[in-house]
Amino acid sequence: MNKHINVLLLGSGGREAALAWKISQSPLLGNFFIAPGNAGTAQYGTNLPLKPTEFDAVYTAVKEHDIELVVAGNEDPLVLGLREKLQAKADADNRKILIVGPGADGAALEGSKDFAKRFMGKYNIPTARHLTVTADNISEGYAFLDTLSAPYVLKADGLAAGKGVLIIDDICEAKKSLQQMLDGQFGAASAKVVIEEFLSGIECSVFVLTDGSGRYIVLPPAKDYKRIGEGDTGLNTGGMGSVCPPPIADEEFMKKVDSRIIRPTLDGLQKENIDYRGFIFLGLIRCGDNPFVIEYNVRMGDPETESVMPRIASDLLPILLEVAEGNLTNMSLDIDSRTAVAVMAVSGGYPEAYVKGKKIGGNLLPEGSIIFHAGTRVDSDGSVLTDGGRVLAAVSYGESIEEAAAKSYSALGEIDFDGMYFRRDIGKDLISLLK
Ligand code: AMP
Ligand code: GLY
Repeated sequence: MNKHINVLLLGSGGREAALAWKISQSPLLGNFFIAPGNAGTAQYGTNLPLKPTEFDAVYTAVKEHDIELVVAGNEDPLVLGLREKLQAKADADNRKILIVGPGADGAALEGSKDFAKRFMGKYNIPTARHLTVTADNISEGYAFLDTLSAPYVLKADGLAAGKGVLIIDDICEAKKSLQQMLDGQFGAASAKVVIEEFLSGIECSVFVLTDGSGRYIVLPPAKDYKRIGEGDTGLNTGGMGSVCPPPIADEEFMKKVDSRIIRPTLDGLQKENIDYRGFIFLGLIRCGDNPFVIEYNVRMGDPETESVMPRIASDLLPILLEVAEGNLTNMSLDIDSRTAVAVMAVSGGYPEAYVKGKKIGGNLLPEGSIIFHAGTRVDSDGSVLTDGGRVLAAVSYGESIEEAAAKSYSALGEIDFDGMYFRRDIGKDLISLLK
């Protein structure tokens, strides 16, 4: 390939900033657009003010900028059929288009927890025991809850902006919540509820890129930190930091992930006639020495991508192209041997109410670290403002988790905005596991 490729990346968070940073380094890249992007992604390409779920606008941009490859950063457009819709429009125009991201059939792995659980059951993929209930069989749900021991896990079947999973200690509370969910607590997303056995262990995230024909590569694994408070306390967030690689994902464990989870998942997709071209994110839990699937996502993780991308030394763009073409020949990645640690700075009050529009001061280009913007925008006077709960991630390399984390903390020490908060214990649990 000697031609330059015009690329459109859809999304606006820290994940997309990290993907944009990586894609922008490719010698194969032609013009690069991010939609809608954030203040940081404008360093790597041109931001386009359009919503990834507005497919007409996305396709208009494809035509206007002669885009050859569309990379979906987040799940919503995929679950809504981005692939099929763009492909149909391109076919009608006799235009060639390549897309990284599954069709709605494959995206159901994330879009419907019930579908994902049935898929895992059918293909013997290790996961928690479960029962799916609707308003019609709620009494079976109560009976199933009675067979489990605390805590109880209730999941809205559909997408609920990351808020649809409840973990409840008390059986009476769990039954009450089941009723409330089925009554519409999460709208249509909880018309079906998956009740699950609670699995106890350490979570980690594994990412696969696959081309629809069973060929795949595995990206470096990572661990994210979901709770707002240090020591994994308080409310769930979109992610407060990540470590790549986490020592729990050792070679032995990754071999089990490959044989028990990745291969059966890809075989299953083929048997279901799902032509899946894109990222598969395995949200895993290590119980004892064994991996179990907590969830599938059909995109990269956030904030895992922020620590995973910096460790990939290979050019990612030719791999994404091959994935989208259904012809993956690059079967391995060059990986930086160092550890990367991402620490997310968030707005005061997040994940509850917070105020946007705070001016971000200090050094956004600290030496030895990368700042990936998440919720930021540029003000009319050129200054950078907060524009979301999760504002930016500082990412650094180190020979150890301690060293990488220390650099990220020192980078965050140079940045300031009103209400800025970050966890000071990212990676600490893993460091104590190593001792
Ligand atoms: P999910 O949206 O399915 O990833 O669930 C959100 C979070 O809830 C996960 O990252 C886990 O921390 C937790 N969780 C979900 N399912 C289980 C389970 N069966 N056992 C233990 N924790 C779970
Ligand atoms: N870090 C978890 C997620 O992206 O869903």
